[in-house]
Amino acid sequence: MEIRENVSLKHLNTFGIDVKARYLAEIGEESEVKTTLNSYGTKPQLLILGGGSNVLFAGHFEGLIIKNNILGRELLKEDHDYVWVKLGAGENWHDIVLWAIENGWGGIENLSLIPGTVGAAPMQNIGAYGVEICSVFEKLEAIDLSTLKLRVFDANDCQFGYRHSVFKGALKNQYLITRVVLKLQKHPVFNTSYGAVSQTLKARGIKELTLRNISDAIISIRESKLPNPDTIGNAGSFFKNPTVDRNIYNNLKTAYANIPNYPTEDGLVKIPAGWLIEQCDWKGFRKGAIGVHKNQALVLVNYGGANGEDLVQLSKEIQSSVNAKFGIELTPEVNIV
Ligand code: FAD
Ligand code: EPU
Repeated sequence: MEIRENVSLKHLNTFGIDVKARYLAEIGEESEVKTTLNSYGTKPQLLILGGGSNVLFAGHFEGLIIKNNILGRELLKEDHDYVWVKLGAGENWHDIVLWAIENGWGGIENLSLIPGTVGAAPMQNIGAYGVEICSVFEKLEAIDLSTLKLRVFDANDCQFGYRHSVFKGALKNQYLITRVVLKLQKHPVFNTSYGAVSQTLKARGIKELTLRNISDAIISIRESKLPNPDTIGNAGSFFKNPTVDRNIYNNLKTAYANIPNYPTEDGLVKIPAGWLIEQCDWKGFRKGAIGVHKNQALVLVNYGGANGEDLVQLSKEIQSSVNAKFGIELTPEVNIV
């Protein structure tokens, strides 16, 4: 383990923002967290980084970044119906999805092609196409960054919600997640409830569902809508989809008859932020190196050489215009550092 100084972060964040970390250490096992923090000294400004696919660096990072590369795939136990697998937090999420599919284990195929690491997945309870990681989550191990003690969190402790967990809320920046245990199905129950998924399967003439063909369909939908960060810098959806109460929704519906809407279990209505942003004429917007993606208005992009602060400014202008037109406050999903 080595602490490097003035390290470029350009290839460590999918926005491709070209800033530096004052200090950066890559860790491959739990014991290195302690060594790193001991040799670094007291109370550094600290950031844990996985694949950098949900962060926006507004400027240089003046403290210490710990990049988590802890690997490992262990079959802990199995019964007639389930397997329990323990995964190193630095494993690539999509590689784990493919590994589960190869083994015939169901539950995460709808989460195919989400960039990033296993350790960051519970952070915001990653979700796509009708599934969230909380539905297969068993527990995780994390190191308390103040006491360096290992703590186990079950699903209740994690307080999962839509793009939320306790690690984004009350315990923000206090733990480094090291291992995650998932409970996967040996007799998969397929989820094709999301309209685009069933339509793609139908268009492909799929009669018999398998983990593989659901994953392939989802990969093709994602590739048609979302920019590949290797080509155009981005961090996926920049904002969360807002929910409003029924009265507000009914008023909006009167003014905008075709407003897309998804009722939630708690009686609210979810409105796609992408639609709100598109209605404010941002879709395809470009100013120099920054912009709003032409196929998905919820995705802010760096065409090359963008400044993180300019992207933050653009996100604020989008928030203001959506608020002015619809009276709805958009909340960023991306972690702005
Ligand atoms: P990072 O960006 O490195 O970190 C994200 C946050 O987690 C930071 O606050 C960081 O400090 C913290 N963190 C990271 N690792 C740890 C750890 N081990 N312990 C403690 N804290 C940690 N997300 C979805 O939910 N659904 C999608 O469909 C989706 N699609 C995407 C598509 C694209 C093209 C892109 C670029 C992103 C997309 N995302 C999506 C967002 C992103 O992929 C996920 O949030 C992912 O889990 C981030 O993983 P990461 O390792 O890159 O995390
Ligand atoms: N829409 C528009 N214009 C746009 C984009 C979307 O009008 O430019 C409307 C359309 O009505 C469309 C609806 O929004 O039918 C939903 O769009 P889409 O299916 O693309 O999904 P999303 O709500 O924009 C969410 C997640 C994605 C996830 C997909 C699939 C959030 C914030 N985003 O996007 O997650 O992959 O659903 O489940 O919940 C991410 O979190 O980074 C992410 C990419």
